[in-house]
Amino acid sequence: MKIVLAATGASGAIYLQRLLSRIDAKEHEVHLVFSGYAKQVIREELGDLDVPEGVKEHGDKTMNVPFVSGSARFDVMVVVPCSMGTLGRIASGTSDSTILRAADVFLKERRKLILVPRETPWNLIHARNVVAVMEAGAIVLPASPSFYAGSNTIEALADTVVDRILDQIGLPNLSAFRWKESGE
Ligand SMILES: Cc1cc2nc3c(=O)[nH]c(=O)nc-3n(C[C@H](O)[C@H](O)[C@H](O)COP(=O)(O)O)c2cc1C
Repeated sequence: MKIVLAATGASGAIYLQRLLSRIDAKEHEVHLVFSGYAKQVIREELGDLDVPEGVKEHGDKTMNVPFVSGSARFDVMVVVPCSMGTLGRIASGTSDSTILRAADVFLKERRKLILVPRETPWNLIHARNVVAVMEAGAIVLPASPSFYAGSNTIEALADTVVDRILDQIGLPNLSAFRWKESGE
């Protein structure tokens, strides 16, 4: 698969870190783009992000990457974590950064775009922007951990969200807790 991961300045760097550790960058082509604020929040929450070998890293001010053009065929883009600012800019179609242009391309090409927002509470603008991106074809997968899997570490709790992202990407995920399937 050809995958774009985009990190923005919402809380939840752990979701990106766990997702990166669950995608094999030797088997898949994985690009990782950071917004300016993503780096700041990652530093605050994790210190350093551990980027697996093979993942191609990009800043948010380049158009010299293949996935900002519809002519390059990619499978899926995940914005994780997704700030409400980025979600709103995707909704309005500004397209003036690498992440925003890539999201715009995925929507126009009817490719899978998964947004993982983290904000609470929402204002009406957030809610309207979520509706707009869903109407345009995005999958909105809020960073809302579930508690029925009996997670006893923060990492395991974060994985309840990451498991849903992997399911939406369409990657095999044998370790996911599945209600009434996991033999527990
Ligand atoms: C420590 C920290 C945590 C933040 N958490 C969130 C958040 O959970 N959700 C959100 O929408 N914005 C959050 N923000 C604000 C965004 O970083 C800010 O709106 C920024 O402009 C987003 O820009 P970007 O979308 O280009 O990354 C946070 C900022 C900081 C410094």
